[in-house]
Amino acid sequence: MNEPIFEPRILSSGIRDVRFGQNVRVVQPVNLYECAIGDESFVGPFVEIQRNVIIGNRCKIQSHAFVCELVTIGDDCVISHGAKFINDPFVIGGPAHGDRRLWRRTRVGNHVSIGTNSTILPVSICDHVVIGAGAVVTKDITEPGIYAGNPARLLRRLNPNNTAETTVNVPFVDLNAQYRTIREDIDRAISAVIAESAYIRGPHVEGFEGAWADTVGVKHCVSCANGTDALLIAMRGLGVKPGDEVITAANSWISTSAMITQTGGRVVFCDVDPVTFTIDPAQLESKITSRTVGIIPVHLYGQAADMDPIMAVAERHGLWVLEDCAQAHLAHYKGRMVGTFGAAATFSFYPSKNLGAYGDAGCIVTNDDQLADWMAAFARHGGKNEHVMEAINSRMDGLQAAILKAKLPHLPEWTKARRRVAWEYDSLLKGIGDVETPQVGAWRDHVYHLYVIRTERRDALKAHLGAAGIATVLNYPKALPFYPAYAYLDHKPEEFPVAYRNQSRILSLPIYPELPSDMLHHVTDQVGRFFNGS
Ligand SMILES: Cc1ncc(COP(=O)(O)O)c(C=O)c1O
Repeated sequence: MNEPIFEPRILSSGIRDVRFGQNVRVVQPVNLYECAIGDESFVGPFVEIQRNVIIGNRCKIQSHAFVCELVTIGDDCVISHGAKFINDPFVIGGPAHGDRRLWRRTRVGNHVSIGTNSTILPVSICDHVVIGAGAVVTKDITEPGIYAGNPARLLRRLNPNNTAETTVNVPFVDLNAQYRTIREDIDRAISAVIAESAYIRGPHVEGFEGAWADTVGVKHCVSCANGTDALLIAMRGLGVKPGDEVITAANSWISTSAMITQTGGRVVFCDVDPVTFTIDPAQLESKITSRTVGIIPVHLYGQAADMDPIMAVAERHGLWVLEDCAQAHLAHYKGRMVGTFGAAATFSFYPSKNLGAYGDAGCIVTNDDQLADWMAAFARHGGKNEHVMEAINSRMDGLQAAILKAKLPHLPEWTKARRRVAWEYDSLLKGIGDVETPQVGAWRDHVYHLYVIRTERRDALKAHLGAAGIATVLNYPKALPFYPAYAYLDHKPEEFPVAYRNQSRILSLPIYPELPSDMLHHVTDQVGRFFNGS
């Protein structure tokens, strides 16, 4: 049997009933019908413009763009390669509805640039807007600015008069950006806790304790209310008593030293290493007296302290080591996870930490069975049924545990993302003014809880960045020995030259896994402008 042969109808021109203004240039082949294109506009090859579309003057419609019915584009616009408009609102979910009574209009203002391969749903876009490549615009845009992403959101505001940048707000951290990526998991975890009324202890808390102990590679995780309590509970477990001396770093958050005092011990500060800001092992021995019982190294900003020499000093003098890992989830030293070196280690899950709860939470990890039992009893009223001692109530809520457990699988990828942000900062800030970017000590891998630069012009730079909408933080405004809380120790700057010098030079720049590259560039551009005086 002969196959039927269908002859295609070849149209001599893909242009039908188009109203062209003056000096319009069109590169064939195109498919343009029943539309209007204003003066001096350009239409590239493989463009489709459907009926009732109106395109203003001096517009550039680049190759492969698709402009559907009910779209109106103002003057001086650029519709880049492969950009497409959609007029079907997909009202019932599913595929395009096809019912033209439901189609909705799209209006694009003047001076709008729509990026390559972006998708514009039926919306209204005001004048002076830039839509980034690949963006999906799902809502009306009423403010001049640069928009990107899916769904598109404002990255920078633009000043319509000269289209120069005005305020770009770069937050120090954006916890909501992370929530948006895992919303379903988090909402499900919260709902489960509520459905089960598992608010205190219970399967979610135990589940997270087990998962975190496995992640760190230790036998026990004793959860508690926050990282500060974790230090207190651990030190009580290690037997600190009035008059005992505990050595810790001069650069840290105050919880580390404050909890030494709360156990009745005496704080002994040690200066830090000039490269990593972590406790300087070379100075440890000079701080040891007959009353010294332990050392608390802090893995500051996300980088491990130099554990080998610290452990060696501790061993020589019969001291315990308690690692403060509040800022260093998943950081390694010589390939080994922080939290596995000392007798115990503490973590904070404060919301902005690398693994953060939606409120306060913390824990202690250890391989010591007896210590773990004692700490668990101490944190929970001295034992549930039989109160073996007077103690405290410091528990991790079921809600926080469920949230942490839902977030835990993402921690490795978030850590990688933090490193990528840090490395991009490193390369873009290289050679600018006197800026020193964070240095990573030998055998360590930084997890960049904070990205802390140093410059002699710190205060002026902070003010400049603030004026450019960039949030920065001082971690910390003073080295611990110089806070009023430690005035009683009467320390002098020359006792802690590195920590003292750092306090006027350090500046933490915004860092979080989802920090958009545009925002990062805004930060580095502004640092450059500050030092180049432009
Ligand atoms: C080094 C260090 N230790 C301890 C803590 C205390 O943790 P939390 O805020 O959970 O009490 C923090 C928190 O910022 C910290 O950074």
